[in-house]
Amino acid sequence: MERVTASLNTYRALPKVELHRHLEGSLRLDTMVDIARQHGMTIPADVLRLSTLVQVQEEDKFTFQNFLSKFNTLRMFYRSPDVIHRITREAIEDAAKDNVRYLELRFTPVALSRAERFPLHDVIDWVIASAGEAARKHNVNVKLIASVNRHESAELAEQVAWLAGERIGNGLVALDLAGNEAEFPSQPFYGIFKEAKQAGLHITIHAGEWGPAAHIREAIEELGAERIGHGVRVLEDENVAALARERGTAFEVCVTSNYQSGVVGTLEEHPLMKMFENGINVTINTDDPSISRITLSYEYYNACDALQMPQYTLKERIVAAAQAGFLPDDEKEKLVAQLKKELKL
Ligand code: ADE
Ligand code: ZN
Repeated sequence: MERVTASLNTYRALPKVELHRHLEGSLRLDTMVDIARQHGMTIPADVLRLSTLVQVQEEDKFTFQNFLSKFNTLRMFYRSPDVIHRITREAIEDAAKDNVRYLELRFTPVALSRAERFPLHDVIDWVIASAGEAARKHNVNVKLIASVNRHESAELAEQVAWLAGERIGNGLVALDLAGNEAEFPSQPFYGIFKEAKQAGLHITIHAGEWGPAAHIREAIEELGAERIGHGVRVLEDENVAALARERGTAFEVCVTSNYQSGVVGTLEEHPLMKMFENGINVTINTDDPSISRITLSYEYYNACDALQMPQYTLKERIVAAAQAGFLPDDEKEKLVAQLKKELKL
């Protein structure tokens, strides 16, 4: 136990870059209890019972269905503009406390708007306003990604993409396709992502997580993905791996999330290092820190301890994440220079 604590502290001290974190997977448990009480929700307002509904438990079956089910419960909490402001601010404060210097926070407007039927444009503007305020307060560079789910309607996705495109320049930089990859195709979203890219949004796509390597090719060629969320099945098709290498596509790998959603049977079986050794541009991320009960420091620790990533490689991957960030060139140059200096690279 002592050793783990000491090691974790070393990772806490590192400056970090997070490319893949969902706002809806980042709610503090105490805040959820507060919201449940304030809004007279029927959901259990004690921490332990609530945790079983919104966080992965040791005794849970580690399947993607169980993992996604946590988001359904979480949708009940978005009850007022104040709640949305608060969870956004707290997600950024928590990242800053973990020494995250550059954070791309993705959020799902459809999820946030659902309980109270808030207009999508309002929800997006609330997140933008609070993210800007918290980023300044905690001195962390934050960019936002609007996320849409494959298992929800393409009409809603189109509205979100349109609204996001209108807000480029307000800290909103990209569009993401998430959700149930195993059972819902991405074909209905081709046109939406093509237009979003033309409007100037960057594109990242969850693919090759709960679906085959072919989905990664589809994400790159049909949806215009510059980065892939997860993509841990890429090595199953050498042609897809070659395509990703050729393009330098960055992979937003989330080790604990993959374990908890049943992608790998044990943490040690995770292909992160194999991907790296095969020339895939991997980065290390959390996905849903509250659902998974982790921090980015803990994921760095997992990569080095459970998966045997050398410390030097971890540092280099932190810089690689910054280089794959959806931020303007001048900001990126500054960030990369600062990270290299602190990491002594
Ligand atoms: N939404 C939040 N986390 C996700 C994941 N790991 N895969 C797909 N959609 C998600
Ligand atoms: Zn994700």
